Amino acid sequence: MLKSKRNIVILSGAGISAESGLGTFRDVGGLWDQYDISEVATPEAWEKNPELVLDFYNLRRKLVLEAEPNLAHECLVHLEKHFNVKIITQNIDDLHERSGSSEVLHLHGEIRKAQCSANEDEVLELAGSDLKIGELSSSGHQLRPHVVWFGEAVPRMYEAEKYVADADIFIVVGTSLNVYPAANLIYSCKKNCQKFIVDVNELTKVKFKNLTHLQGKATEKLPELVNALIQDSKS
Ligand code: APR
Repeated sequence: MLKSKRNIVILSGAGISAESGLGTFRDVGGLWDQYDISEVATPEAWEKNPELVLDFYNLRRKLVLEAEPNLAHECLVHLEKHFNVKIITQNIDDLHERSGSSEVLHLHGEIRKAQCSANEDEVLELAGSDLKIGELSSSGHQLRPHVVWFGEAVPRMYEAEKYVADADIFIVVGTSLNVYPAANLIYSCKKNCQKFIVDVNELTKVKFKNLTHLQGKATEKLPELVNALIQDSKS
């Protein structure tokens, strides 16, 4: 009799896209070393200077369009043949989707989409790389990036918690777990869930003792872990 597939949930952060050339936030020289969060990634910033906010995301969107998925994104697609895989990402890039992953939940939004600045439920795909002042929603309001800014609610958090609560295996990759409520997901696992964290930073081992730490680059350590889990699923 066919064994039912076990559930794997991935929580990814900027570190999984680092080797695709997209900068992380809190590494040395990262985005928050280059920009002031309060000027480009808050509702107050949007009220004060929407052009600056649009320029910030237009620049990042161009870089996302030029980037390609890497081995870390791609190895997660292979998992789908052997497990029920759900990806929760804090990233606003679409590299998981472009590598072929079929279930991707964006906690912090999607840079290739825009939303009505008066109605967050009105969301549309952006054809090109730029969103400009004067581009309006169907209700005549300025379009803004479909991104969760600091201080805003995370609409899909409850859905993400349910994913993690059903996981048999939980893999955290490329995130400093500095931002809440996303970081709380590591406490949503059921008792016998196997928990791993892949990160280059050796401090991760100390900071998150209840996760098995695989220190190294996502493109090296994640494929190793995926292969081991696939082999184990066959035994
Ligand atoms: N391989 C594995 N891990 C890496 C790599 C790599 N090649 N490069 C960097 N890392 C790790 C870093 O050690 C760090 O732990 O990725 C993590 C990146 O952390 P952050 O820069 O804080 O990014 P992230 O955790 O995704 O930020 C969360 O903060 O600014 C908000 O909304 C934004 O979604 C973002 C959230």
